[in-house]
Amino acid sequence: MIYQIYPRSFADASGDGIGDLAGITARLDSLAALGVDAIWLSPFYTSPQKDAGYDVADFTDVDPLFGTLADFDRMLERAHDLGLRVIVDIVPNHTSDAHAWFQAARASAPGSPERARYIVRDGRGPEGELPPNNWESVFGGPAWTRLDTTDGSPGQWYLHLFDSSQPDLDWTNEEVRAEFDRILRFWLDRGVDGFRVDVAHGLAKHPDLPDFVISEDIDSMGAAQMGHPAWAQQGVHEIWRRWRSVVDEYDGDRILTAEAWVEPLSEMAAWVRPDEMHQAFNFPYLMTPWDADAVRTVIDDSLAAFASVGAPSTWVLSNHDVIRHPSRLALTVPSPQGHGIGPDSPGLPDPAVAQMRGRAATLLMLALPGSAYLFQGEELGLPEVLDIPADRREDPTFHRTGGERYGRDGCRVPLPWEADAPAFGFSPSGESWLPQPGWWGEYARDRQEGDRESSLELYRAALAARREHGLASASLSWETTDGDVLIARVGDVMVVCNLSTSPVDLPAGEVIAASERLDDSLPPNAAAWLLTT
Ligand code: NOJ
Repeated sequence: MIYQIYPRSFADASGDGIGDLAGITARLDSLAALGVDAIWLSPFYTSPQKDAGYDVADFTDVDPLFGTLADFDRMLERAHDLGLRVIVDIVPNHTSDAHAWFQAARASAPGSPERARYIVRDGRGPEGELPPNNWESVFGGPAWTRLDTTDGSPGQWYLHLFDSSQPDLDWTNEEVRAEFDRILRFWLDRGVDGFRVDVAHGLAKHPDLPDFVISEDIDSMGAAQMGHPAWAQQGVHEIWRRWRSVVDEYDGDRILTAEAWVEPLSEMAAWVRPDEMHQAFNFPYLMTPWDADAVRTVIDDSLAAFASVGAPSTWVLSNHDVIRHPSRLALTVPSPQGHGIGPDSPGLPDPAVAQMRGRAATLLMLALPGSAYLFQGEELGLPEVLDIPADRREDPTFHRTGGERYGRDGCRVPLPWEADAPAFGFSPSGESWLPQPGWWGEYARDRQEGDRESSLELYRAALAARREHGLASASLSWETTDGDVLIARVGDVMVVCNLSTSPVDLPAGEVIAASERLDDSLPPNAAAWLLTT
């Protein structure tokens, strides 16, 4: 099980209100106690933080906000001492506009080698005043920004699939490929156990950069736009084969995990063929609504698709880009990925239903064979935070859409560790880069420790049982293949998840984990694991 740390929001040792590497190091023992096998850290590299660190200005250094390379080494050593493997994020689709390469591209002439590292083109229209094509940024607005010129000639345009501060690199350029080989080796030499590869479906673009006829807004990081000339182009695969050969030069089980918003799952499986990446996030699973048929189908499709290439299936419900899953699974009006929810959103979740569904969904997920990914704070049962004032929101999505989309800040609020400490234990100074709601302390880790009905203890018990019963490498078979109650056997454990609206009788057996207090029946929005005879 891999646990995602979002460094800005995990633990702040320096007191500036932004989490840091020393804060992570100090709190790692709580992750070992939870039963985590590996941690994945979102970016902590030098960055102007226009997209919370996914705008990298130097891929081989630590931003002073997060500490130093020596702090990184200490964190790595402590993690390894605790038996935790460490996966770092790598962001190859784009750099920050503050990266030395982009600064050089800005200052250089059209057609120069400096510009050739990025996707820079002349504009359309008589004066080149129109963008080269009609692509839109994932964060809203056009995907092209015009470069200034100093000599009065018409400025060229650069592509940015995300924010204008994140110019896309040109991966047909060997210089770009070689630079990323170097970056991979830099971190592998330091001892990391692998990489989570950002926007792994975006590096190769259709060579003609043709217009795309847009039927609806781009969402799901491009997944809803299969066939879009920016996403899921076949050219990515040779890049992954090259990266795999770099990673394979190193000892131990170093892994590459793809962030690839690709559908269907049979297509995503191509990212994890034996000579490409090791794992890919299962976003179709994450996007599945609370509906028994849909959940059963996505589980079957996942197991079949990943098995077809000999890779483990993965499972994920939450991360730093989506509405936290308890809230999301209880929305009565769906919200497209990345749009977020706020106080005025339609179909807001009933908090009690959200809490139950969140726990049940987790218990179902942790029974499934393969690799599970957790996002920091989900073990505390945190819901999405809705009431963040506009002037405190930082996600570029919010600002690029004039507030029409709330964006992703609601899942990124710094964690509550101790109910009665400043910033709920997040920061000794009481500072917090996103405001923590007053009720955050109810979810604090210290309030939940030892309380058998708490979310924390549910996660701990489920992770321990998952390990004890070898569920990650067991096989799954359904006991029922229709109806609103999912019942499956995974190894020697029977998992039952009630997605109907009435209680159901539980099969006879010993309950070893349950998302709700049980009598003889399993309430709606609940799940249980049993040992049956
Ligand atoms: C995916 C990351 O998870 C997200 O947070 C980021 O905004 C985009 N890639 C751009 O790097």
